[in-house]
Amino acid sequence: AQNERDSQFIVSDWAKNRYKKLLQESEEGESIGWAYLKERGLNQATIETFELGYSLDKWDDVLTEAQQAGFDVKYLEKTGLVIKREEDGRRYDRFRGRVMFPIHNVSGRVVGFGARTLRRDEKAGAKYLNSPESEIYHKSDVLYGLYQAKQSIRQEELCYLVEGYLDVISLYQGGVKNVVASSGTSLTEGQIRLIARYTDNVTVLYDGDAAGVKAALRGLDIILENGLNVRVVLFPDGDDPDSYIRKVGDARFRKFVEEQSQDFITFKTQLVAREAAQDPVKKAEAIREVLQSIAKVPDPLKRQVFLQQTSMAFHIDEQVLISEYNKLVKQTA
Ligand code: CTP
Ligand code: MN
Ligand code: MN
Ligand code: MN
Ligand code: MN
Repeated sequence: AQNERDSQFIVSDWAKNRYKKLLQESEEGESIGWAYLKERGLNQATIETFELGYSLDKWDDVLTEAQQAGFDVKYLEKTGLVIKREEDGRRYDRFRGRVMFPIHNVSGRVVGFGARTLRRDEKAGAKYLNSPESEIYHKSDVLYGLYQAKQSIRQEELCYLVEGYLDVISLYQGGVKNVVASSGTSLTEGQIRLIARYTDNVTVLYDGDAAGVKAALRGLDIILENGLNVRVVLFPDGDDPDSYIRKVGDARFRKFVEEQSQDFITFKTQLVAREAAQDPVKKAEAIREVLQSIAKVPDPLKRQVFLQQTSMAFHIDEQVLISEYNKLVKQTA
């Protein structure tokens, strides 16, 4: 019901404010949370823009404070701020001793949280903990940073897509404000549609590791299918957008992205062509993989250009390629 959702929105907003206050005003938040964010290069203005916070390393801070503020514990559970243990029914805070990243929906209301551990030891647990799905938080329909980025996305006619919370925040602080993250989940159609409200152009800036390349190769056809233009930039091995902009500075980062960005299908063609090398069987497979991506492009003119380009890249006669393409499309239709 509407009241249910409203209550979940209100308690999430309350929690966001609690975590903000703890970061700015508590001893633990200042000495541990603030120190960490400063070490990561963030300034106060950025911390305010993204409403970052800190959760105390304590089992019941939110549990007790929220109830004292008059919230029914059922909404704390529904939003996942509090967990009820099955065995004995005892309740405890989900987020403890972490930097808190509120996740806003497009209208700026908090629907959930990402939370980063500050520990580097064995017992740290997962690096990031996230709120569970709830009536107000549908992960597949949310993009981290979109609320802050949407105006610049429209202005720049371009949306940068990154993997993580801190990639969004670092780029934004560095003046690249048209940036969003899918935050751990693989990209969904709902997320693409959100981007498509503001622009047709997406440039993907995934981490320069094996996982990032794999995500780029496997996960981007969905953007093509929705008719958007996709470009990709690969970062040097071991770097992600956040570490890279910190390393080289804003200006060189921008230059790198502009110079290195290439059309996704071109990128894929080069990558699979290189992997196949001179092996004829692998080469045929590689060509089919590229054709699969081309088949996702709704615009026939663009498809034609990509087919021409693929024929040149693999030194395959264009007519042969086109007839292969037509076969493939018929098979999958
Ligand atoms: N992620 C997650 N749970 C994890 C690890 C990652 O939800 N256990 C999500 C987070 O949204 C994270 C993103 O995947 O921001 C990218 O993961 P990764 O590259 O490992 O982390 P970074 O964002 O680079 O985090 P940091 O720079 O703080 O190490
Ligand atoms: Mn919904
Ligand atoms: Mn990574
Ligand atoms: Mn990182
Ligand atoms: Mn990363």
